Amino acid sequence: MLIAPSLLSCDFSRFGEEIKRMDEAGADYMHLDVMDGHFVPNITFGAPVMKYVRSFTDKVFDVHLMISEPLKYIDDFCDAGADIITFHIESDSNPVETIKKIKGRGVKAGLVIKPKTPAESVFPYLDMIDMVLVMTVEPGFGGQSFMADMLPKVETLKAEINKKHLDVLIEADGGIGMNNIAECKKAGVDVAVAGTAVFKAENPKETIAKLKEC
Ligand code: DX5
Ligand code: ZN
Repeated sequence: MLIAPSLLSCDFSRFGEEIKRMDEAGADYMHLDVMDGHFVPNITFGAPVMKYVRSFTDKVFDVHLMISEPLKYIDDFCDAGADIITFHIESDSNPVETIKKIKGRGVKAGLVIKPKTPAESVFPYLDMIDMVLVMTVEPGFGGQSFMADMLPKVETLKAEINKKHLDVLIEADGGIGMNNIAECKKAGVDVAVAGTAVFKAENPKETIAKLKEC
């Protein structure tokens, strides 16, 4: 299991150092939540801020775009150093066009599904993408409770990916911690995002190691 701490829970006055701290604590990916106050009812940061903190680690920048028109901003996030860009199937941008734009920049592409969106909605795009991100909370805020009823969607996706012999990672995001990481793994999650569980831990290094063990 790969662990991607969500920087949404970090001390933003020390954004760069927080990234470095997570790197040293053993994070596999840095999960960066971009919110536009329109697709979701919250605003975080954009590509210019990401560009400033890019130099604090060599680890994968896993950029989760919770914005209405991702296609418009793909170049900006690629220029800022994204390694993986995931965007919502529920956004206003054309999925194929957006995936092509991301891949054309040599960056990995993924689709995200909100809790009410069925797993099957991304089936037509599976052979074009590198990752599917299954939201296990409603996107917008950290610190919410894990929705265990999203795990059947992970199982459905895993079965389809295996059936088609594809190399697509499944990421899960929202409310993940020690009390549900094993269930996530069993369902087929490859990458677990964890915000609160890692940042509120007394010893993030130990927590990341324990989460990875599951
Ligand atoms: C929610 C974000 C998540 C969230 C994870 O919209 O996409 O990445 O911050 O944080 P926790 O682990 O606290 O739910
Ligand atoms: Zn996220």
